[in-house]
Amino acid sequence: MNLNELRARVENKSARLAVIGQGYVGLPVAALFADNGFNMLGVDVQPERVEKINAGVNPIEGKEPGLAELLKRVIASGTFRATTEYSELHDRDIFLIAVETPVDENHVPRYEALRAALASLAPVMKDGALVIVESTIAPRTMHDVALPLLEEYSGMKLNEGFYLGNCPERVMPGKLLKNLQTMSRVAGAMTPETADVMIALYKNIVKADLDPANCITAELVKTVENAYRDVQIAFANEVALIAEAAGGDVWKVRELVNKSPMRQMHLPGAGVGGHCIPKDPWLLVHRAGERGVPLRLIPAAREINDSMPSHVADLVKEALKKVNRDMQGARIAVLGYAYLEDSDDARNSPSEALVRILRDFGADPVIHDPWIHEYNSDVYERVKGCDAVVVMVAHSAYRQLDLHKVKSILRFPVLVDGRRVFDVETARSAGLQIASIGKS
Ligand SMILES: NC(=O)c1ccc[n+]([C@@H]2O[C@H](COP(=O)([O-])OP(=O)(O)OC[C@H]3O[C@@H](n4cnc5c(N)ncnc54)[C@H](O)[C@@H]3O)[C@@H](O)[C@H]2O)c1
Repeated sequence: MNLNELRARVENKSARLAVIGQGYVGLPVAALFADNGFNMLGVDVQPERVEKINAGVNPIEGKEPGLAELLKRVIASGTFRATTEYSELHDRDIFLIAVETPVDENHVPRYEALRAALASLAPVMKDGALVIVESTIAPRTMHDVALPLLEEYSGMKLNEGFYLGNCPERVMPGKLLKNLQTMSRVAGAMTPETADVMIALYKNIVKADLDPANCITAELVKTVENAYRDVQIAFANEVALIAEAAGGDVWKVRELVNKSPMRQMHLPGAGVGGHCIPKDPWLLVHRAGERGVPLRLIPAAREINDSMPSHVADLVKEALKKVNRDMQGARIAVLGYAYLEDSDDARNSPSEALVRILRDFGADPVIHDPWIHEYNSDVYERVKGCDAVVVMVAHSAYRQLDLHKVKSILRFPVLVDGRRVFDVETARSAGLQIASIGKS
């Protein structure tokens, strides 16, 4: 099949699609295409996940507006089903790959999942198939990893036997369906003609700009946009530390700074987590670092953001000192274990780092999170008898906390607010001694 025939199948919606990787990205993408008239097969290596999906049960447990209903609908209509078997992919025309792409402890990309997906797909891929990598990858990965793997394992040649592109995702948990449909995307491809077919395909679900580009540009754009965010957050975090030292309030400062033209200072906080922001800057710099390009700003930003849980631990220590309580043996209620408000996603969570640091100090952290099974119990029961409470995530449930009640069940009236969930005066009037990031 040539590209014109594939394009015709996309336009009349007879193209048969598959999404490899049914996680935060792959599942909503698959469900949306299925809802827009395409026959869709979802592939994942986790049998329990596949089972849940086929039963119409959404495996993502955070607040994800519309996803559970959408999944139920497309499973019931028969346009979508999931499998663990790559052999079932032999009749598919287009493959979207949305597997995880983490980095290791030395910040080197770990492409085990991507390599495995490509190596399993290539032998069953039919002639004329289009493969689109949606995962976030380091610049040049399409040329240096995806292309050689597909050619080797399929025995076919690029642009003769198969077509290849890279269309990175811009979604965030909590807004997966909304982001997918309303945010612009870069359709990076090995040829402009392939980019055109990709745009014709994504038009079905994306109601925003679809910009054609080559693969290297698409890879750079995705990793740059997340590195940009990480650097901006690091700037806000450093200003927060400066404000604390100066006796100011970073939130007031930020509000007024942002009245100045072309200033958009980000929010400071207790750390940066998730599958993307903590690792995408490392993906961006990986190859340049190997080639000796001096890298200063982006690694420094990573270091600042990674140090914020340690700063929170220091705030707890200082606050306890004021009430003559040592960290040794102190029970510290840690509210929030996900990396993001109202999400169940705890990957690279700053709370995980905080818990480790508190334990190193000899303290006894007690974790609560309304969105994570393991930690979901009555919040007041978790706080009861603790020496201090730390808010690490701005979950909606925490904004409703009765601070008078919190004060009455704590052993010491110590509250550390890592996300500025509480107004300082309100907390003080409830009798709490509050320490907030960015306010001395
Ligand atoms: N989560 C986000 O908000 C987000 C946003 C933008 C981009 N991304 C990028 O999208 C990609 C996927 O992220 P995610 O959050 O969806 O990850 P995820 O871990 O939620 O999902 C990945 C899925 O792929 C499956 N998988 C792994 N290896 C496989 C294989 N060989 N064959 C089939 N399935 C396999 C896993 O079992 C898992 O269910 C990453 O590159 C990430 O950086 C994520």
